[in-house]
Amino acid sequence: MKKTRREFLGTGLALGLAPVANANPFKDLVDTEESEEKLKILILGGTSFLGPHQIKYALKRGHEVSIFTRGKTVPKIHPEAFSMVEQLVGDREDNLEALKDRKWDVVIDNSGRKTKWTEDTAKLLVDNVGYYMYTSSISVYYPFTGDDFSEARSLVTEIPDDVTENERFTYEYGVMKATSEMATIEAFGKERSIIVRPTLIVGPGDRTDRFPYWLARLEKGGDIIIPGSSDEVVQYIDVRDLAEWMIRLLENKAAGTYNGSGPGFAMTTNAFVHGIHASYTSPVNYIQIDDLTFLQENNIIGIQPWVVQLPEYAGMSKSDNSKAIATDLQFRPLSETVRATKAWWYSDAVPQERRDNILTNERSLMIREEEILEKWRARTGD
Ligand SMILES: NC(=O)c1ccc[n+]([C@@H]2O[C@H](COP(=O)([O-])OP(=O)(O)OC[C@H]3O[C@@H](n4cnc5c(N)ncnc54)[C@H](OP(=O)(O)O)[C@@H]3O)[C@@H](O)[C@H]2O)c1
Repeated sequence: MKKTRREFLGTGLALGLAPVANANPFKDLVDTEESEEKLKILILGGTSFLGPHQIKYALKRGHEVSIFTRGKTVPKIHPEAFSMVEQLVGDREDNLEALKDRKWDVVIDNSGRKTKWTEDTAKLLVDNVGYYMYTSSISVYYPFTGDDFSEARSLVTEIPDDVTENERFTYEYGVMKATSEMATIEAFGKERSIIVRPTLIVGPGDRTDRFPYWLARLEKGGDIIIPGSSDEVVQYIDVRDLAEWMIRLLENKAAGTYNGSGPGFAMTTNAFVHGIHASYTSPVNYIQIDDLTFLQENNIIGIQPWVVQLPEYAGMSKSDNSKAIATDLQFRPLSETVRATKAWWYSDAVPQERRDNILTNERSLMIREEEILEKWRARTGD
């Protein structure tokens, strides 16, 4: 029997959250119209980074949301939304009981970390759910060599035998995502599968320090190393743009495979840095270092979202997003991504240790930078 929103009230308690009034907390904020068709959405996951943004938008659009987690991760992003969400508890490893004999219009598989997990849930849900959306990654394109980073590129689905331990580790994630995509299509068929391959996701709730590093660094100002050449391109996707587009793909029953990357134009590293710094007033002096050997020696080869052009990563920022744009992926300006990420980064949602990791940890590039620059100046005679 269909549960009402009132019946969902209090399910947030399992996540350690106080219930809030039985009203859509986003109703007043809505600049978004409700969707014509109301969906029952199941999210496998939902409480970490991408999930809460999907939930917020889905509720704004008038959909009903259930989530399936172990109940361990307490949502720090939009915690107020979870009083309106049905929380199902289990474990993708060995306990899918809560998903049995239930019907949903669509499922979003965010928490897929093993191919078997996706095989099991896709098989279990195939007769009770209309569409299976699998959250994949552009890492399916690893190694990022060649020119074609469209959805048509053929994928590596087995780790080659002749790779080093390090390479094996890098291959693992992409191969797991590629084979999970296959498991989705195997169960639901192409006509009921939606595969989304996001690039590096940034914004409020980010579990990595990739983007926050650059906010902190540009706020501090001074002599700043920009690794790589000035015309390299940068891709990222604001988590809110990604989440909202994924919900619209479901509303439109847009079966298919999509790269989820932004922005909507080729942004160079310089444009990216200047774009972020436009939110600050600190005096800055940029020092571009494109000597890959020097960067590698000093362990600054991969400070994301830059992807310095080592051969196996050369195409990582070149995924083709034309299909996504044609299906209504929209982009906030970088300034808005900076504003929201900054507000979150300095809020109670982020523990001080995380900020210290960037600001004061001796391993942080920000702390090592002066010494590295001295070496660079000695080498170049500047
Ligand atoms: N971050 C990036 O830059 C990036 C880029 C490309 C692709 N992606 C992909 O994007 C997806 C989004 O991840 P997200 O963490 O933001 O999603 P999310 O839906 O916000 O959260 C992930 C959820 O997985 C649940 N979970 C973990 N282990 C579980 C288990 N054994 N059984 C049941 N639930 C479990 C966690 O809850 P509990 O801990 O309570 O179980 C959590 O709710 C991932 O598939 C990732 O590979 C990320």
